[in-house]
Amino acid sequence: MATQSSVIESTVPQAQDEWTRQSCGFYSCPKCKQDLEPAYDGFSCRVCATTYPILRGIPDFILVNLEESRNRSLRVVGKNDSRPPLDFMASVYETWIYPYVCNLYGGWHSTSLERLAHDIAEIVGSRDGLILDVACGPGTYGRRIASESKTVLGIDICMSMLRQGVQYVEKGHIPNVYFARATVEALPFRDGLFDAAICAGSLNHFSDTVLALREIGRTMKAGAPLAVMCFARINSGLMKYKWILDGAERGGGHIDTVADLERYVAKADFEDFRPRVYGSVLVFSARKSRQSISVNAQRRPLL
Ligand SMILES: C[S@@+](CC[C@H](N)C(=O)[O-])C[C@H]1O[C@@H](n2cnc3c(N)ncnc32)[C@H](O)[C@@H]1O
Ligand SMILES: [Zn+2]
Repeated sequence: MATQSSVIESTVPQAQDEWTRQSCGFYSCPKCKQDLEPAYDGFSCRVCATTYPILRGIPDFILVNLEESRNRSLRVVGKNDSRPPLDFMASVYETWIYPYVCNLYGGWHSTSLERLAHDIAEIVGSRDGLILDVACGPGTYGRRIASESKTVLGIDICMSMLRQGVQYVEKGHIPNVYFARATVEALPFRDGLFDAAICAGSLNHFSDTVLALREIGRTMKAGAPLAVMCFARINSGLMKYKWILDGAERGGGHIDTVADLERYVAKADFEDFRPRVYGSVLVFSARKSRQSISVNAQRRPLL
């Protein structure tokens, strides 16, 4: 199967056609969730009479202007996306910003990217198949999990982050990582597609946690594991200060208690919530409920 990187490098339209045709099997219309067809420079939904463009090898499923969003985090990304400051931020995000945020906000030496990546990989487990990386940034976790037998589909609202992810994948010759621009609220995937899902560093940003978790769950197979990393209201690091928590809320985010998160997870039809705490950083696992077998899950054979 062609990788995203082969598209970026290639200037041969035929190669792009091939990649588009193949990756069409992964993606569905984010609005009606029906199958897409390859179109010139994009994917097309017959039902909605909509074409989603592929921009420099990255499918774009967000056709609205994020600058007009009600959520402040989305507006900020919409305003600055693909501009030099955000491109620069994306380029140093993993190396400079991650350790600083973990130590300062989570608590000094509370955890590290290596530790968190280890936990997330453990939750995803050894199962092969398709893995969703929601709000993937530059594919921080998905890249570390992808292999010949594990295909990772990362989505994020931010092109600067996604392009940085493509660069890492290119440079590291990492197989089977695909990136697309989409929101967690309207995922471009059919029901019951994924064998596992990751949602790291982003739950605190979503306007409606339950709605986001439900949409992630919709795309997962019954019993599939979910791995989440987020901040929680636990008295450690800068997160113990009210002005930091209030600031997060003013910025469009929210820091919840572990008990609240457990409730949201159950409300979104996940079970077996298992938290692991590192200062104010929380890693938790849960499983898509086995009872909720989606009516559309068998609509099309898996790739
Ligand atoms: C702190 S970064 C985390 C990136 C990566 N998962 C990691 O752990 O390093 C948060 C990401 O969430 C994305 N994001 C925020 N709101 C989103 C939404 N509603 N849908 C999809 N992505 C979103 C941002 O663009 C950003 O890349
Ligand atoms: Zn549609």
